[in-house]
Amino acid sequence: MRVNCNHPLNNLTKSMSDFVRRHIGPSEAEQTQMLNDLGLSSMDELIRQIVPDSILLRGDYKLPDGCSEQEALTELKEIAQQNIVKRSLIGQGYYGTITPPVILRNVFENPEWYTSYTPYQAEISQGRLEALFNFQTLITELTGLSIANASLLDEGTAAAEAMILAHSGSKKNVFLVDDKIFPQTLSVLETRAKPLGIEITLIDIEGSISLEKIDTAFGVLVQLPDNTGKIKQTEALLRIADVYKCMKIAIVDPMCQVLMKPVGEMGFDIAVGSMQRFGVPMGYGGPHAAFFAINEKYKRKIPGRIVGQSVDNQGNKALRLALQTREQHIRRDKATSNICTAQALLANIAGFYAAYHGSEGLKKIATRILKYRQVLIKAFKFTGTAVDDSEGFDTIRIKTNKKVDEFNMRYENGFVVFSIDELTSLDEIQRILDATCERQIDVRKVFESTETYKWFTIPERNKPWLTQEVFNSYHSETNMMRYIYELGSKDFSLVNGMIPLGSCTMKLNAASELMPVSWPEFANMHPFAPKEQTLGYDILINELKGWLCEITGFADVSLQPNAGSQGEYAGLLAIQEYHKSRGDDKRNVCLIPESAHGTNGASAVMAGMKVVTIKCDDNGNIDTNDLEKQAIMNTFELAAVMVTYPSTHGVFESTIKDICRIIHDNGGQVYLDGANLNAQVGLAKPCNYGADVCHMNLHKTFCIPHGGGGPGVGPIGVAEHLVPFMNQRVSAAEQGSASILPISWMYIRMMGGDGLQKASEVSLLSANWLANKIDPYFKVLYKAESGRVAHECIFDCRNLPVTAEDIAKRLMDYGFHAPTLSWPVSNTMMAEPTESESLNELQRFVDAMEMIGREIFTIPDIVKNAPHTESEVCGQWTHGYTREEACFPNRPKHKFWPAVSRINNAYGDRNLVCACS
Ligand SMILES: Cc1ncc(COP(=O)(O)O)c(C=O)c1O
Repeated sequence: MRVNCNHPLNNLTKSMSDFVRRHIGPSEAEQTQMLNDLGLSSMDELIRQIVPDSILLRGDYKLPDGCSEQEALTELKEIAQQNIVKRSLIGQGYYGTITPPVILRNVFENPEWYTSYTPYQAEISQGRLEALFNFQTLITELTGLSIANASLLDEGTAAAEAMILAHSGSKKNVFLVDDKIFPQTLSVLETRAKPLGIEITLIDIEGSISLEKIDTAFGVLVQLPDNTGKIKQTEALLRIADVYKCMKIAIVDPMCQVLMKPVGEMGFDIAVGSMQRFGVPMGYGGPHAAFFAINEKYKRKIPGRIVGQSVDNQGNKALRLALQTREQHIRRDKATSNICTAQALLANIAGFYAAYHGSEGLKKIATRILKYRQVLIKAFKFTGTAVDDSEGFDTIRIKTNKKVDEFNMRYENGFVVFSIDELTSLDEIQRILDATCERQIDVRKVFESTETYKWFTIPERNKPWLTQEVFNSYHSETNMMRYIYELGSKDFSLVNGMIPLGSCTMKLNAASELMPVSWPEFANMHPFAPKEQTLGYDILINELKGWLCEITGFADVSLQPNAGSQGEYAGLLAIQEYHKSRGDDKRNVCLIPESAHGTNGASAVMAGMKVVTIKCDDNGNIDTNDLEKQAIMNTFELAAVMVTYPSTHGVFESTIKDICRIIHDNGGQVYLDGANLNAQVGLAKPCNYGADVCHMNLHKTFCIPHGGGGPGVGPIGVAEHLVPFMNQRVSAAEQGSASILPISWMYIRMMGGDGLQKASEVSLLSANWLANKIDPYFKVLYKAESGRVAHECIFDCRNLPVTAEDIAKRLMDYGFHAPTLSWPVSNTMMAEPTESESLNELQRFVDAMEMIGREIFTIPDIVKNAPHTESEVCGQWTHGYTREEACFPNRPKHKFWPAVSRINNAYGDRNLVCACS
């Protein structure tokens, strides 16, 4: 990979850019003071105590110098303008849509919404939990199925998750797939089916299906409308599938589903699809929220997160993540799926879009699309152009060899295929007709003479829907704006204070980094636009890849995985293919330390591997003796080890090179979980110390905001020998969540090589400073031999009269989001301050922890009853401590009130409610 260090602006910016000062919280003077507090005289001394000498980088690191926000924006604009944005009517899952400005400005571009984390701390996340609950309600209403999750990564992976769910527990291994499915979805299905031994058989859904074939199948998948635009008849198929206990899955276009009878009512067991055309820009393929809805009886098998209703300890309704025991972070390799980060922000946008339009508004949009299609079909017939008039929704196929310059369309075997959308107007239709027909025709006349179209054979939606209050109260901009802010004010995001979630790297997401995402050059690009129109994206992608290669030492990078979990999966597939290419096809054992993130085990199982767990020693480090023993015992079957570095325990283990050597000696490959890359950019390169492949979460280290649970980008870097195997189709779009890549580009460009190294150093300094200050009240569980931690540290809350959860909730009363709770060690808290938090904010956190440390022994009830809400304070006060002690312990400048008091999780799981009634 080529690294471009000759940026034209480099000459202007020789020293560290001003942006570095704005990104990094502690000033130079504060950094010196923090070093002094640790008894150190220089940053270098600290780094040498933390990063093992054997892996510490020495000068081998070439990135452009940093620059100011303005310079980077100017440079990126020049790149963006190399994209040619044409109206794309290519369809196939990606359509023109209007993001209502009230949603664009107040959700998409609002840090209250985009900087929050996955709602693990539900009491301070009620806003986005409600928005996701609305999304789930929308999906159940659209599909007619009773349970929906809070989004998946894209339509392709959602279809694959449906396939895997249908397969689980079945003895059959054939999956019948609509032969007119979108090609990218088929590619993802094929990738996911292969390691699990699932055989995909393509069938003509309306043709005669042999009973023999269906008897061998565990599931059947139908696309509605299909790749040709046709909405097929499925009654016969559904009846046969029922007889043969074959699970029925529909991929359905949600805008078409507005008019069509819900697929759940037709008899499908699962519905999946993409909510992109509900107000989310195409963005060259992503990010968009996929949906997954299912029959009640399979609710415990559903992949991804579900928001459910429960009650708080005041008896109020409250929302929180439901049924978490089926998720990867608890069930690990036994989980239903490896999904962790999903597409929360985009799901929320789609939910708001539906709330803004309501059922009538949505019907209007969908009906207009359907009528325009009818108008086009009629006009084509008038003009003698051969047109496919099968029943459909938005897609037209005409037989012509004309090419339409103004629009991007599909050209397939003598047919021109295009899909109309929310943006389509009569003027546009006129221009399409002018360009494709031999004879002139006035579209307005055709329009006026066309009745609102009614399908003949396709069952229509015929019951009232979206009757819930939320879909009927916010149709004016004033009301919608207020609703968005009402919800936003219930959520703790980076707008309110630090979010020291360990392993999550909640650093600054600078406004300048985010701005280009809304630029039309990036937002309005179709993923299948002709190559000559996407030059800007190509430049952006290549530069970013080059920089990531330079940072990690790898030979190449694939940006396709749209979350860390997908990077893990893609990396393991690359390893598998590599082994196979050498005739080593028995290698399927994956060693995973017991400290690993849940996604590691779940991804290995998805890749068809057998997981062998490796012990950790009393210091939390990988037990290298156990590792060596297992590597030798499995020497002929060893495929890989998955190791997180620095470890999930927040330590740079000094044995990392030995770990890599042991694995390589036994024929395995080293998969490095790079979620913790923020500790090592500019200080160590994973490829140099022995990793063969590594995923890096751009939504952690490289500033993509977490969006309340996604989007994310989880690219993999691979060593030279794995390059031929890295591009497996794991996401629907070739470049994954391309439209958010400008964020990471801006970050690296503005920070420059030195700035990035500085960021790593300060992240290490801040974590060590915090560890040192809090250790007297809550012992730091694991440290390296030098006594130092890496970029995060674990505070031990065991053997106390209260639990770590109590402390996490009490931190809310102090105006903080808790650190990561009970992971990787139960009843502990793992804090990662990042480099972006100021010394003031760190000190505020230390003070809070110190005060809580005392309260635990003086007034333990205040901790156990936390958090305390505004309504509780205004009601009858029965506690043995004062209202002031409860709610204003640290006299905050601005009090952040938890919206509800402590939530009863078990109650919600026993009485699952995951959609508005
Ligand atoms: C160590 C580690 N590995 C993997 C992941 C999974 O990443 P993602 O949530 O993007 O799927 C995480 C996410 O928190 C993590 O902390």
